[in-house]
Amino acid sequence: MTSQPLPGFRDFFPEEHASLRSIFSAWREASHRSGFREYEGPELESLELYTEKSGEEIVGQLYHFKDKGDREVALRPELTPTLARMVASRHRNYRKPIKWFSIPRLFRYERPQRGRHREHFQWNCDIVGEKGGVAEAELISTLCLGLSLLGLGPQDVVVKISDRGWWDAFLTHQGIEEGKKGEVLRILDKLEGAPQEEWQKKLGSLAEPVAQALTSKAIQSPGLNEVRQGVADLGYGNWCEVDLRVVRGLAYYTGVVFEVHDRAGKFRAVAGGGRYDHLLKKLGGEDLPATGFGMGDAVLSELLREKKLVRPVAARAEIFVVAETGERSLALQLAGMLRRAGHAVDYDPASGKWAKQLELAEARGARWALLVGREAAQGKLLVKELAARKQGQVSFRQDGGGEISLEWGVGDWAKVVA
Ligand code: HAM
Repeated sequence: MTSQPLPGFRDFFPEEHASLRSIFSAWREASHRSGFREYEGPELESLELYTEKSGEEIVGQLYHFKDKGDREVALRPELTPTLARMVASRHRNYRKPIKWFSIPRLFRYERPQRGRHREHFQWNCDIVGEKGGVAEAELISTLCLGLSLLGLGPQDVVVKISDRGWWDAFLTHQGIEEGKKGEVLRILDKLEGAPQEEWQKKLGSLAEPVAQALTSKAIQSPGLNEVRQGVADLGYGNWCEVDLRVVRGLAYYTGVVFEVHDRAGKFRAVAGGGRYDHLLKKLGGEDLPATGFGMGDAVLSELLREKKLVRPVAARAEIFVVAETGERSLALQLAGMLRRAGHAVDYDPASGKWAKQLELAEARGARWALLVGREAAQGKLLVKELAARKQGQVSFRQDGGGEISLEWGVGDWAKVVA
């Protein structure tokens, strides 16, 4: 038996989990500020949901098996098919546009490497029922807000925007059949950053026109222009660049697509998304336009570490109750009362020497120690402000029903200590 998790899976010890929580809270805050409502779906879905909708790359990375009821099932590798399934089943209950977000844990059997694992958390924001580029502008500005809440700015990351619609027209012009376009786009997706010879090898006669198109300044895409205008109006114009090399690996995208990369180009994409107007219909739902993005925690954490922006949300006790032997019951009553009153309270379950208990209080990062000693018989408790090494006394009363009340509320303890 090993003490390590499976390859590509991560343990989050409390310190690491505190960093993860700070990422989640930025994601949630940005979603709420931008009017997205949170939802969640199941971790396990029918295999078919992905084999038909996600495209070859993800299907090759699925964790799938037969369940005990002989159903072919898969751990979710992405959330978009689940969202499309959920919206298709109940969209009449919701006014359009639907703006939803979620932070699922996803599973892909990839080769583990820096920023890539076999599970990751992914912030998803999606808008269903809006055709206009203002939807993508809304999504891009929301993800920029989320990144800025973590301390990142346009000097650190760039949102590269492209248009699959433009690629579609270009490939038609080049005489590529409809059924072959997906394959060409998948090849293009993999070629980012590859040397010229590789392009030639993989694209053959298409390499030349593609290279020309990519360097051309005269690209016409009304869709892109609308998105860029919206993003600029929302205040994030300087975060974005048009970059047609972004085509996205997933099969369902139909229009404007985008990816977030670190400016230095050291890491893989921090986020990716785009328009997928036909997915809902394919799932048997109404023909509703949709667009969205997913941002993973793994690459983002690498980037935050590099920029020294990791700010863990520490879960610390505010008050640590220290009890003399014999006063244990009163100490527990105080802890319970203070917790019910809204405070974060901890204590040493093995009540030993005061000094030992105070050591634990400091290790837990508590601001206050509330000491329950012999003076409790006279209705007195000792309060210590640990870091400031100050202390004072507070009185308490216990009514006939055992209810405890303090003479000074915790908010006033700073006035009590000297
Ligand atoms: P995706 O590009 O496959 O898109 O993933 C989005 C982001 O999730 C990536 O940019 C990356 O940060 C992170 N990610 C993906 N795979 C891994 C992995 N194995 N390890 C760590 N991080 C990873 C989608 O999944 C789309 N469903 C997003 C979307 C939502 N499109 C529309 N709505």
